[in-house]
Amino acid sequence: MLRSADSGSLRAANIGEQVTLAGWIGRRRDHGGIIFLDLRDRSGAAQVVFNPELAADAAHLAEEVRPEWVIQVKGTITKRPQGSENPAMATGDVEVVATELTVLNRSLTPPFYIDDDAEADESLRLRYRYLDLRRPPMLHNLTVRHHVVKYIRDYLSDRGFLEIETPILIKSTPEGARDFLVPSRMQPGNFYALPQSPQQMKQLLMVAGVEKYFQIARCFRDEDLRADRQLEFTQLDLEMSFVEEDDILNLTEELYIGMIESVTPEKKLRKPFPRISHEEAMDRYATDKPDLRFGLEMTDVSDLASETEFRVFLSTIEGGGRIKGFVVPGQAQFVTGQVKELEDTAKEAGAGGLVHIRYRGTGTIGELTVEEIVQSAGLRMPPEWHQRLAEKMGANAGDLVLLMAGKQPRLNAWLTVMRTHVGNLLELPDPDELAFAFVTQFPLFDWNEDGKRWDSSHHPFTSPADGQAAELDGENLGAIKSKAYDLVCNGSELASGSIRIHNRQLQEKIFEILGYSKEDTIARFGQLLEAFEYGAPPHGGIAPGIDRLVAILCGAMSIRDVIAFPKTQSGSDLLFDAPTPVDQSQLDELSLRIVEKPK
Ligand code: AMO
Repeated sequence: MLRSADSGSLRAANIGEQVTLAGWIGRRRDHGGIIFLDLRDRSGAAQVVFNPELAADAAHLAEEVRPEWVIQVKGTITKRPQGSENPAMATGDVEVVATELTVLNRSLTPPFYIDDDAEADESLRLRYRYLDLRRPPMLHNLTVRHHVVKYIRDYLSDRGFLEIETPILIKSTPEGARDFLVPSRMQPGNFYALPQSPQQMKQLLMVAGVEKYFQIARCFRDEDLRADRQLEFTQLDLEMSFVEEDDILNLTEELYIGMIESVTPEKKLRKPFPRISHEEAMDRYATDKPDLRFGLEMTDVSDLASETEFRVFLSTIEGGGRIKGFVVPGQAQFVTGQVKELEDTAKEAGAGGLVHIRYRGTGTIGELTVEEIVQSAGLRMPPEWHQRLAEKMGANAGDLVLLMAGKQPRLNAWLTVMRTHVGNLLELPDPDELAFAFVTQFPLFDWNEDGKRWDSSHHPFTSPADGQAAELDGENLGAIKSKAYDLVCNGSELASGSIRIHNRQLQEKIFEILGYSKEDTIARFGQLLEAFEYGAPPHGGIAPGIDRLVAILCGAMSIRDVIAFPKTQSGSDLLFDAPTPVDQSQLDELSLRIVEKPK
């Protein structure tokens, strides 16, 4: 090794020791001939002092070196002079008085400062990702990611799971996104699809008798990117045979609690994880991925709203819509400008508007005067009505009430925007807290209004809830529940899974409802359907997204910050400059021709 110790490991206990360090130059200061360098490696940084009176050659060379040069330093670990200790540095009690300096490599001036806080533009960071990753917070994120994956591997191996790799070049396995296709050279005109997830393969492994499978699996989905979505991402893919829903949820919960307490013990983890039904989540939080770090729970007040003469309420109810909202405790003092800002947010989300009521004054709502009830123009309801509304919603004097009118599912989407906005505005969520929950009993199907068809709410391999399979022949498909579940945390979906169908007839029935022809079903899913006829055991599983989990544990705003080489929002790799056109010869080999997209 070119070093005898890591820079970040030096402590007062090492004073007097000879040491050889190697790493990158961080800050460099020249104090009248005496030069101070911060020498950084993956473990942290140490201060190195070059004094021309003690080591003339080294001090002379130290004048020349620049940030990000790679150097090797030999010297003695000494106590820093009193008053010059740096409590912000783990090594801040000591410094290395250098006797020798060797330049291992030079560096151009980096396009941005390699420091804790990157002020640099993200596209520059992605273009020079190797410099961005050299920054301590980014190396920290990669370290957390490593520990998370290692914990998962150890935990599952200890419980008898086998880690099995599945192919990347396969046939389409649908998860609701577009496939990435790979043209076959050997079979011109034919394409592989990259797996959106190893879903069918893990089910086939259950038919094979593996019983407990996992994989740290790369998944590929051609979909629009957001802060929590990448074209390729990583799942802990997991499947078990002879299990019921609770077995998967209990295992996942124990795994997550153990992992978080081991990897990021500083987080405030709420446990046990509550389990709430999809219906309850939608009623109480207007979303299937609620942020449970704060309240602001919803109440449907359509019945009371229908007593008003407010046109918006009445026409919404007449058109089959609902009136729903939430109480913001203690915020009746919101001034007109603040309420206007909330209205603007509602309109930006697509809502027609936002009704507000500010219960000023004290005592019970029934005792408030007309003047103390400041309500949206148009509402004009007497205190007696407000008393009943407040009782239903749990509002008190001093509170602000926000109501929205609309048809589902859009109403819930607007309410979620408002709940999140108000929560953040009032700084209700604690950034250090992790509030997990399992959301269960999802509907089996969602109605796709645009396509005028039923889609799987999770995926087509999900089992209907017990006793509900018979209803697949009925009219009310939207009411059928499934054995699908999600794990959510702080308002984001971290994992999804289900107990699967393991019976050919039932699986075929689902494909039929989803609109697949018999031929299409066989062409796409024949392999799984056939396998079901050779003794498929009951089975189920889950797939936690690793990127999203690590992002939450690291407090990262985007999963890009926990992926070594991510793509931009528009799907570009700025470091390798991909995607790019290819040579004509490559296209010829693949029997492909590029045509202009018709306008
Ligand atoms: P699902 O499609 O819900 O389920 O995905 C499971 C989890 O994967 C993560 N995830 C993503 N992360 C980053 N970028 C993306 N584009 C992206 N898409 C999904 C999320 C999500 O919760 N085969 C099923 C699982 C199963 O039934 O066992 C599946 O893939 O964290």
